[in-house]
Amino acid sequence: MPHATNTEYHHIQLKKLAPTFAAEVTGVDFSKPVEKEVFDEIHRAIVDYGVLVFRKASLDDARHVTFAALFGELDDVKPYLAMGRKNRFPFDELFDVSNQEDDGSLVKLGSKRHHMGLGNSIFHVDSSFNPRRAGYSLLRAHQLPPRGHGGNTDFADTRTAFVELPEDLRKDLLENEYIGAHSLMHSRKKAAPKDSEWLRDIDPEKYPYGRHDIVQTHRPSGRPNLYIANHMHHLEYKKPRSASFTPTKEQPYERVPQPQGTELIERLLAHASQPRYVVSVEWENEGDLIVWDNTCVMHKAGEGTFMEKYARDMRRCTVHDGSIDAWGHNERTTKRMGLP
Ligand code: OGA
Ligand code: MN
Repeated sequence: MPHATNTEYHHIQLKKLAPTFAAEVTGVDFSKPVEKEVFDEIHRAIVDYGVLVFRKASLDDARHVTFAALFGELDDVKPYLAMGRKNRFPFDELFDVSNQEDDGSLVKLGSKRHHMGLGNSIFHVDSSFNPRRAGYSLLRAHQLPPRGHGGNTDFADTRTAFVELPEDLRKDLLENEYIGAHSLMHSRKKAAPKDSEWLRDIDPEKYPYGRHDIVQTHRPSGRPNLYIANHMHHLEYKKPRSASFTPTKEQPYERVPQPQGTELIERLLAHASQPRYVVSVEWENEGDLIVWDNTCVMHKAGEGTFMEKYARDMRRCTVHDGSIDAWGHNERTTKRMGLP
């Protein structure tokens, strides 16, 4: 597969952050609308690198939304507003990924928001649990904790992780054509304390799953990708297996039996989270912006000691996937499963 090099870029400069993916971009003037020729190069670069870091882009809320809309159709928080949540921001297209409550106060350890937010600290892709998954995410640091309190964002290169799968695992995936059943509630429960009063009584089985093939072609680059995340509650077989299985609306595919299914999920996640596929990006300045492609990288919030002490005010625009795989095996509804 040919790899773009800096010589193919005339408006922007790229500095690689890891051997196989992720780059820091310079040369973009965010003080005015980004010009088409410049955006075209950014778009080309994200296909190649999967993660782009723009230092001190210093977008405000409005320009953040305008820039994100260049990448495609934007997701919004309207379903959650209808459920009674408030958005601190003046745009429904801005998701609040901070450690703050809707009134701006810092989350308390053990609060619902704290426990729910912990789900972001295990590797995932955005919105794989929704009927239509996310393509690009654009995360902006509005306010950061003082340096030394952590709060990096880590990324994992799942295209390279696919190519370097151990042979038995690759064979298993290609033969069995697994589907991942993704659930927001599953990842929330997985990351929170077992006895969390907010999550212990929640049963992911009572919510619909987002279903996507595990092995996919990342359409923009043509490269294979492992589309995996800690949202995966269980695996299913795409092809019918036992004669006794009858598909229903709730269970359209036969499940991989336990513990085999969970063992495979954990093996895939462990493989793709090895240090050689991971880059940890430090947020250096307020105004830094990171754009990533959820259909070829996973991400997670890194460790930090800021939680109850300092605001980490992160705001995200989420672009619906525009590829033919956007809906996976899901019904095409606008219903969404939850934040973030
Ligand atoms: C997100 C996310 C991680 C972070 O915005 O989707 O997972 O470091 N963020 O805040
Ligand atoms: Mn996320």
